[in-house]
Amino acid sequence: MVEECSIDIKLDHHIDLVDKNIFGHFIEHLGRCIYPGVWVGISSKVSDGNGFRKDTVKALKSISAPVIRWPGGCFADYYHWMDGVGPRESRPRRLNVWWKGEESNAFGTDEFIQFCKMVGAEPYICVNVGSGCPEEALAWLEYCNLSGNTKYANMRVSNGHIEPYNVRFWDVGNESWGCGGNFDPVYHAWEYRRFSTFLKRADPSIKLVACGHISRDWNFRFMEAMREYIHLIDYLSIHYYFRNGQRYGDDVNFTDEQYFNLLYDVQLLEYQIKQAIYAIEFFSEGRKDIGLIVDEWGVWHPQATVETGLYQQNTLRDAILAASVLNLFISYSNKIKMANIAQAVNVLQSVCLTEGDETILTPTYHVFSMFKHHMNNIALAVECVSPTVWSGEKEATVQRKLKPLKALDASASIGQDGKNLVVTVVNQSLDKDYTAKIRNNRGIKFLEAKIVSLNANDVRAYNDFESKENVKTVEETFTVNGSTLELNFERHSVNLLTLKLE
Ligand code: AHR
Repeated sequence: MVEECSIDIKLDHHIDLVDKNIFGHFIEHLGRCIYPGVWVGISSKVSDGNGFRKDTVKALKSISAPVIRWPGGCFADYYHWMDGVGPRESRPRRLNVWWKGEESNAFGTDEFIQFCKMVGAEPYICVNVGSGCPEEALAWLEYCNLSGNTKYANMRVSNGHIEPYNVRFWDVGNESWGCGGNFDPVYHAWEYRRFSTFLKRADPSIKLVACGHISRDWNFRFMEAMREYIHLIDYLSIHYYFRNGQRYGDDVNFTDEQYFNLLYDVQLLEYQIKQAIYAIEFFSEGRKDIGLIVDEWGVWHPQATVETGLYQQNTLRDAILAASVLNLFISYSNKIKMANIAQAVNVLQSVCLTEGDETILTPTYHVFSMFKHHMNNIALAVECVSPTVWSGEKEATVQRKLKPLKALDASASIGQDGKNLVVTVVNQSLDKDYTAKIRNNRGIKFLEAKIVSLNANDVRAYNDFESKENVKTVEETFTVNGSTLELNFERHSVNLLTLKLE
């Protein structure tokens, strides 16, 4: 029996603008992310001449990384920004409390802003709530955004940066329920009110991000304590790591069952998204449009420990997961306004890995390079029909109302001109290619089409320093003339389809 597959795109069902920031990144002073993933020092062979690692800048630029979060992560809540400005040789060395080792402070605010400029990304700064105070945060904001004749604005000028940086996104503490200080949600709301009152007053144009959690209890208690101060929150953030060695196996060694568990669990992330949205809507009561940000997400394999600097390999499986998660974010475009995969280089689910002077682009890099075509388009509703490839555990399916995993997963968006359609399709099957009918509900003719596919012989394949292109993309362009298109999607592949409409 031929198994029917179809992808129906509802051209009239606009979800919202796909905020380009959902394809964002994150760098932290952890393991080999900043040193030498981002900063190698001026005298290094792989520096751009100013101390930045050329390959990393090039990679992030080529995927149009829209926003970069910094300096942490857990690091943010014991980072004192003044350690990282002024002449590099006189910056103090500090203990990296959470991630061990020492911090040279060679890469600080001015370097971060410069790095973002080179990449073409917007900076997103996380302030220190855990061991800092509003005064310190306010001084940082003044250093970055103000142009008057005041102490910290003048400090920036005397460090050689006349124009203010106009940093728009500010995160008030990181994981305040955990490494950020083990706060209780109500106490954290008091702290949030203190910090945000002064920050917003000093620069009303900034957007403030409050720390949420993947615990309904935290989000409800925090939001309830913020009920009368809802105007101080622009976004609530959550973090979501797929971190379960038993269920998902290792970075490169995993069973077929573990492969399916990982993809099946994307539904758990969706559950958390729904819970966070519910808490936002319940307490904001329509008085403020608060967006959701997932400012840390990705797969966290057992290899990534404090001892290994959270380094892990990145297989085609990770890329497939990233694509399914990005499809999910696109389908929540009306609420999710930013997401930052953790972390850009050498830590967790990176887009680049480095070794000495060498750099490789991971399979996850290619996913970002494909999905960037959705940026600033309008997300469309999609109905995707395909056979089940994994039923999931009976208990989970019943208790947590999870659905069996289907072979195909897709999202679609249309350019603001209404003519250019972008569809990203993942075939999650391990052993079967599927041919699907691609249709639109208005019967509009498709003209040109281009497909880019990411795949390899084995889902466990990865790019390494000996063989940098085990997992890579191939492209095909063709003409179509009709409102239905039949396309074959290979097993364990990620596909980008761009279509011109008549
Ligand atoms: O990304 C690694 C760590 O994971 C971050 O520092 C922290 O916020 C999270 O727990």
